[in-house]
Amino acid sequence: MSQLSVKNLHVTFPLRDGELKAVKDVSFNLEKGEALGIVGESGSGKSVCVSSLLGLLPVPPAVIKGVAEFEGQDLYSCEALQLREIRGKRISMIFQDPMTSLNPHMRVIDQIAEPLRIHEGLSKKQARARAVKAMESVGIPDAAARAKSWPHEFSGGMRQRVMIAMAMISEPEILIADEPTTALDVTVQRQILNLIRDLQKKTGMSLILISHDLAVVASICDRIAVMRNGVMVEQGSSKEVLSNPQHAYTRGLLMCNPALHQPGCRLTTLEEMMEGEEAP
Ligand SMILES: Nc1ncnc2c1ncn2[C@@H]1O[C@H](COP(=O)(O)OP(=O)(O)O)[C@@H](O)[C@H]1O
Ligand SMILES: [Mg+2]
Repeated sequence: MSQLSVKNLHVTFPLRDGELKAVKDVSFNLEKGEALGIVGESGSGKSVCVSSLLGLLPVPPAVIKGVAEFEGQDLYSCEALQLREIRGKRISMIFQDPMTSLNPHMRVIDQIAEPLRIHEGLSKKQARARAVKAMESVGIPDAAARAKSWPHEFSGGMRQRVMIAMAMISEPEILIADEPTTALDVTVQRQILNLIRDLQKKTGMSLILISHDLAVVASICDRIAVMRNGVMVEQGSSKEVLSNPQHAYTRGLLMCNPALHQPGCRLTTLEEMMEGEEAP
């Protein structure tokens, strides 16, 4: 049994004149300890897909069909309370923009400590001590001294480290990172990706890393799934997908990615590549 198994997932948003099918018949598995990358351009349904798993989409308006089993338990049919337990403790998620996910009016240390107080019932003192350790483990220098700071006193990269500390403090079985480095500049991006990779290796947790950038997911994921227009058009081991892409869209992503050392992007745009190809 896979740790997480998503089968025939459809997510549809009703519109005033019709509907928007954001996710269409998506199926994938995640094995324990594995790193799965989901890649695709903006609007292809990556965030809607994973947000639906954790009950983070308002239902309605979103209409969700399909099955998503976490350790054999269907996430779409479990009670709200149970789902909140899973979301806070067993599956953690981090997002692109730490500033919108952090509470500007709460000291960093207390935000990191909050899940421990809620889910593990630790005292304020105990939780704060663990929070400082968590800050150290994500590479925040002078953690003890900086713990009392406010989010706006941290740089973008440091704020993302705070988010990662929050996500990791409950020792999740799965970390879902949705474009965690998109808002950061390139060198900081690399540091954060390395941090995520190291934490994954150290803890043995599974990882779903979402990005519009194939090079980003290829650099740390064992497997890659490619999404386009709500459809998962291709999935396979990173090696397979990079060396022998099956779908024209994947070939386009590869060609347009200088970091993957593929020639041809300047001459052929992705749009031209897709011309004559059947849309999924
Ligand atoms: N709450 C919502 N209501 C209506 N449409 C939405 C909502 N959230 C996302 N969408 C639409 O669903 C599609 C997929 O969005 P999303 O999953 O955010 O894309 P990605 O993460 O790949 O950039 C987009 O067309 C987006 O506009
Ligand atoms: Mg997104």
